[in-house]
Amino acid sequence: MCGIVGYIGEAQAAPILLDGLSKLEYRGYDSAGIAVYDGEEIRVQKATGRLKALSELTHDGATMPGVSGIGHTRWATHGAPSNVNAHPHYNQDKTIAVVHNGIIENYMKLRKYLEGKGCQFVSETDTEVVAHLLARYYKGDPLEAVTKAMHRMEGSYALGIIFKDHADKVYAVRKDSPMIVGHGKDGNLIASDVPAVLKYTRKVYFIQNEEIAALTKEGITFFNVDGDEIAKEPTTIDWDVNAAEKGGYEHFMLKEMYEQPQTVKDTLNPRIRDGEVVIEELGMEDGEICAVNRIHIVACGSAYHAGVTAKYVFEGLARVPVEVDLASEFRYRNPILQQDDLVIIISQSGETADSLAALREAKARGIKTLGIVNVVGSSIAREADRVMYTWAGPEIAVATTKAYSAQLIAEYLLAIKFAQARNTVSAQEVEGLLRDLQKLPEQIEMLLGNKGRIQHFANRYIAAKDVFFVGRGIDYAISMEGSLKLKEISYIHSEAYAAGELKHGTISLIEEGTLVAAVVTQEELYKKTISNIVELRSRGAFVLAVTNTGNREIEKAADYVIYIPQTNWYFTNSLAIIPLQLFSYYVSVGKGCDVDKPRNLAKSVTVE
Ligand code: M6R
Repeated sequence: MCGIVGYIGEAQAAPILLDGLSKLEYRGYDSAGIAVYDGEEIRVQKATGRLKALSELTHDGATMPGVSGIGHTRWATHGAPSNVNAHPHYNQDKTIAVVHNGIIENYMKLRKYLEGKGCQFVSETDTEVVAHLLARYYKGDPLEAVTKAMHRMEGSYALGIIFKDHADKVYAVRKDSPMIVGHGKDGNLIASDVPAVLKYTRKVYFIQNEEIAALTKEGITFFNVDGDEIAKEPTTIDWDVNAAEKGGYEHFMLKEMYEQPQTVKDTLNPRIRDGEVVIEELGMEDGEICAVNRIHIVACGSAYHAGVTAKYVFEGLARVPVEVDLASEFRYRNPILQQDDLVIIISQSGETADSLAALREAKARGIKTLGIVNVVGSSIAREADRVMYTWAGPEIAVATTKAYSAQLIAEYLLAIKFAQARNTVSAQEVEGLLRDLQKLPEQIEMLLGNKGRIQHFANRYIAAKDVFFVGRGIDYAISMEGSLKLKEISYIHSEAYAAGELKHGTISLIEEGTLVAAVVTQEELYKKTISNIVELRSRGAFVLAVTNTGNREIEKAADYVIYIPQTNWYFTNSLAIIPLQLFSYYVSVGKGCDVDKPRNLAKSVTVE
C-alpha cells in the first residue's frame, strides 16, 4: 500500500505533490519520488527514507519547475526500499512516467515478454513493467496505450501516468486499488486517498474499477476500459482532514479490519498460478523441503498466535512436526535445533527485538531460517536466509488485524507447498484447498458486513471484568488471538483456554453472567466443546459461540451464536477471528478507550 498524488493546473506542481504526499505518508514511507514535466522533458527526483528527504532534495519542490506531475510515497513490495526501486518509473526513453499502488501479479511474465522486445529494466519492481508496456502500445494516443496495457495487466493497480508528448494531461487508472480525482479551482488532482486533495478541493470523483481519468488544467474526462467516455457525478467531501486520513473510518483499527479482504487477496493471489502454489521467494526446491525434519515457529504476540494455528495446518497437511515458541522464551531456553530443522520467524514489523534475537540465535547455530514479515527491508526480512512477505501494507493501529490475517494466509500457502512437495496431499485435495482459500476474501467481507449485530452485543459487555475465550485445536489458537485483541484495546481482563483444560482449575472463576466466547469450528470436536459449553453454562456463564454455518446443534447449548461461512477446517481462523476483532473493537469504543494507541503499548516492540 503506497500513496499516489498527481496535479495539473496553474500552480507549480512539485510543492502540491509534496504536500499531497505528506498527507499520505502513513500509507507507505520507505521512499518517495515525484515526476514533473518542465516544458521540455519529464524530470524525476527520488529519495529513500521519509518524505522529508525528498522535500530537502528538491528544496520543497522549488528545483522542479512545471505545472503537471505525479508523485508517490512507497511501501516496498517488489524490490527493497531503494532509490532505484522508488517510483516514478520511466519507460526506456523517459517519455512516460508512472506511479503505482497495488501488485501486477503477472509482472514476471510481462517483464520477460518486454525484455524479449529489447526493453531494459533498471529496477526490481513490478511497476516498471507498466511504463514499458505503455511505451510498447503508445502510437500517439495515450488513451489507447492505457487501455491496451490494462488488458494485459493482472492484479491490482492504481496508476498515475504522464506522457511527455501529451504533457497537458495527467492520467489516472484504477483496478482494485483506490484512486480519486479532485476538481480544484486552479487545477485538478489525482490521489490514492482523499486527504491528499482536501487542501485544494472538496469536490471529488471516485474512480471505479477499470476506469480511467484524463485530467487537464480545465477539466476531467472519464473513460471505461474500452476507451469509451463515461459520465460521473462528483461527491462533496465534508469530513475533517483527520478523519479522512483514516479513509473516513473512525479509527485505523476499523479501517484495517475492513482492508482484510484486500490484504488476503494481495498475499494470496500472486502466489497461486495455474492451480499451483508458487512461492518464488522461498527458493527451496522440493528436495530441500522434503529434507526438513522439524519446523520451529518463533514469534511474539499475535504473530505467535498465527504460529500456533500454523502448527495444526503444517502438521495436518504436510505431516511435518512443528514446535511453536514465544521468541522471548526460545532465545533463552537453549532449544534443541538440528541440522535439517527450519526456523520460521513471524513478524509484522520485522523489528521485534525478541524475534530478531531468536532469528540470530538460530542462524548462529547454522539452522536455515525463513521470515514471514510484513515490513519490507526490516531487520528480520534482511537477516533471515529467506523471506516471504505478507503484503498487508502499513498497519498503523497497535492492535494487529490485517497483518495477522495476512500471516495466516502466508502460512496456509507454505503448508500447502510443503504438503505438495512431501506428497502428503493429492492433487484433488490441493484443488479444493486453493478453491476454499480463494473464497476467503468474499467471506471475510460478508462477516464484516454483519458488524451491526456484534456491535449491539459488544455494547452489553462494556462493563465486563473478566472474559474467557475457549476452544479446542485450531479453535484454541483463535481463542488466544481473540483474547489478546480484547485485553489490549479494552483493558478488560481476558484469558484463552483450551476448552478441555477448564475443568483443571479455571472453571472455578466462572460466576453468574461471566462472558465466555467459545470458538467451535472444528467439526470433529463439536461434541466435545459443546459439552464444555454446557458445563460452563451450568455454572452461570453466558456463552457466545462462534461456529460454522449449519451447526444448529449449538443453539441448544449457547446463549448467543455467530455463524461463519463454511470453509476448509484448516482455514476457519481467517473467518472466526473477524467477529472477535469486531467485538473487541466495539467494546473498546464503548468504553471510550484509545483504540489505535492503547495504553502502555507500542506498535513495534524493539526492546526485550
Ligand atoms: O511486529 P510483530 O509481529 O513482531 O509484533 C509482535 C507483537 O508485538 C504484536 O503482534 C502484538 O502482540 C500486537 N499488539 C497484537 O495486536
